[in-house]
Amino acid sequence: MATPTTKRSLLSALTSSLLLAHTQATPWKVLDVDFPDPAIIHTDDGYHAFATTSGDINTQVAHSADFTTWTLLEGHDALPAPFPDWVIDDPKPGVWAPDVIQRDDGTFIMYYCAYARQDPTKHCVGAATSPSVEGPYTPEANVLACPTEQGGAIDASGYKDDDGTWYVVYKVDGSALNTDANYHPTPIMLQKMEADAVTPVGEPVQLIDRGEADGPLVEAPSITRGADGVYYMGFSSNMFDTLYYDMSWATAEAIAGPWTKSQDPGAPLLVTGDDSDAGPLGGPGGADFRDDGKAILFHAFNNGQNTSEGRGTWAAEISLEGGRITLL
Ligand SMILES: *[C@@H]1O[C@H](CO)[C@@H](O)[C@H](O)[C@H]1NC(C)=O
Repeated sequence: MATPTTKRSLLSALTSSLLLAHTQATPWKVLDVDFPDPAIIHTDDGYHAFATTSGDINTQVAHSADFTTWTLLEGHDALPAPFPDWVIDDPKPGVWAPDVIQRDDGTFIMYYCAYARQDPTKHCVGAATSPSVEGPYTPEANVLACPTEQGGAIDASGYKDDDGTWYVVYKVDGSALNTDANYHPTPIMLQKMEADAVTPVGEPVQLIDRGEADGPLVEAPSITRGADGVYYMGFSSNMFDTLYYDMSWATAEAIAGPWTKSQDPGAPLLVTGDDSDAGPLGGPGGADFRDDGKAILFHAFNNGQNTSEGRGTWAAEISLEGGRITLL
């Protein structure tokens, strides 16, 4: 239930986004179905996007030759059962927010999360491999991150640094422990990986955590590096099923930090009420950077109001410069 206070904050968010709208370019809607938490990969076969479970599909896939027009691969599941022992015994184990990268040997790696057998109310993160981008992906036996006492781990995203080192960033899902407004930490962690991109090296390090301005959480991290040499992390704040959800960003000079959440007047980059070719956005977030850092995919409410008609996917071109992200 929204209190009078939260309604006022929402009104002010709506007002400031309307004031900013005329300076911003227009994101365009690319998938008018339920396709949340989109992740992008670019290959010789154009662009593929992967999304959270919907209907009977664990991991949805869409394709685009030109990044402008996208087609859902209807009925295609890139991550069908069976799952390894760390996952609950269910062919549909709640697979959220997959991300796909291509290793130097050509193998595709999917990072995904699923409900964990050691605590079936929490998600943990694993990896799966495939010789082809569309899968089907074969899960690795070992879990990659499984801090169930802190709420589990979700929203894994792969990143290859300029020196060739693979990293996985993910959210420790303290949100899964929240029973009241005493919000648990939701740190975004950085895990260094072996060259195989599936074996962790050492312990993960914390990059950012939720603060007052983020409401209950931060999540959905995606990292890229600008031509300015700055590391940019896109992330979402607030609950995904409310109009407060957004996409903001943090910057760093080194991948392990320290990271600083942007105080730029243009941050968050995306909030409810921002313009799009399909009308004002509702609950935008869950964004992923395109490999070249020049565009994003993100989701928002199909009906502009709530999740009842699912979350569709939008695209936007961006620029990264001087620590700022702007819509082109
Ligand atoms: C969701 O939004 C639609 C469209 O505004 C509205 O008709 C419906 O009642 C809302 N559902 C919930 C559960 O709030």
